[in-house]
Amino acid sequence: MGLFITFEGPEGSGKSTQARLLYEHLQTQGYPVILTREPGGTRIGEMIRRILIDLRHTEMAPTTETLLFSAARAQLVSELIRPYLATGGIVLCDRYADSTYAYQGYGLGRDLKELHAITMVATGGLMPDLTFYLDIDVESGLERKRGRQTGKAPIEGRTMPPEWNRLDARDLAYHQRVAAGFHELMQREPERWRKLDARRPIDDLAQAIESEVRLWLPRVARLPGSVEV
Ligand code: TYD
Repeated sequence: MGLFITFEGPEGSGKSTQARLLYEHLQTQGYPVILTREPGGTRIGEMIRRILIDLRHTEMAPTTETLLFSAARAQLVSELIRPYLATGGIVLCDRYADSTYAYQGYGLGRDLKELHAITMVATGGLMPDLTFYLDIDVESGLERKRGRQTGKAPIEGRTMPPEWNRLDARDLAYHQRVAAGFHELMQREPERWRKLDARRPIDDLAQAIESEVRLWLPRVARLPGSVEV
């Protein structure tokens, strides 16, 4: 059965940091756990990721973009996520299908029913048991991300370094639609989502996430020979 946990949030929300901290915590506790990300996480998926985020690919059609994210997801689910869950392990994933609904659905205006059908094909219907949403207002998040790339506060009109990707470069209104989309997704399925204020100190957030996950751990067996720390 295993346990499948995903992290979502706008750019610069710190979800990747929290995913890594939870991964390290669970590993220390002796649980079988893997950490992966979307798009990417497999050899093929990382190649698709490069196509998706390349700043030169301005001509990419929304349908192509949607199908590429879904293709990377299909590979990740089949190569990594399902097999690991089948061994009873914990899978942590930095973004998953909710990002497609938020970014390509609410952000780009793709039909949500169509996205659902594509997602069902890509995932076979596999959805997370638990999803953490790191909540931050869009402007601060983008600023945090830009600041992280340059190591200092962003300067208007300055060319961004390579990690500032094609999807980050979309306008503010786009990112705001995405964030509003995430909030709608949370309202639709409140039992799966846990929303956390991303402005809280890193350790404080990590502890909140750990205590939530602790409730799910009885269904996962520790690795042989491991001791509780
Ligand atoms: P990344 O640099 O990993 O961003 P982040 O650190 O915010 O996760 O780039 C991934 C980008 O891809 C991010 O802007 C969100 C976007 N995305 C989609 O548009 N659709 C999707 O289905 C997924 C998984 C990601």
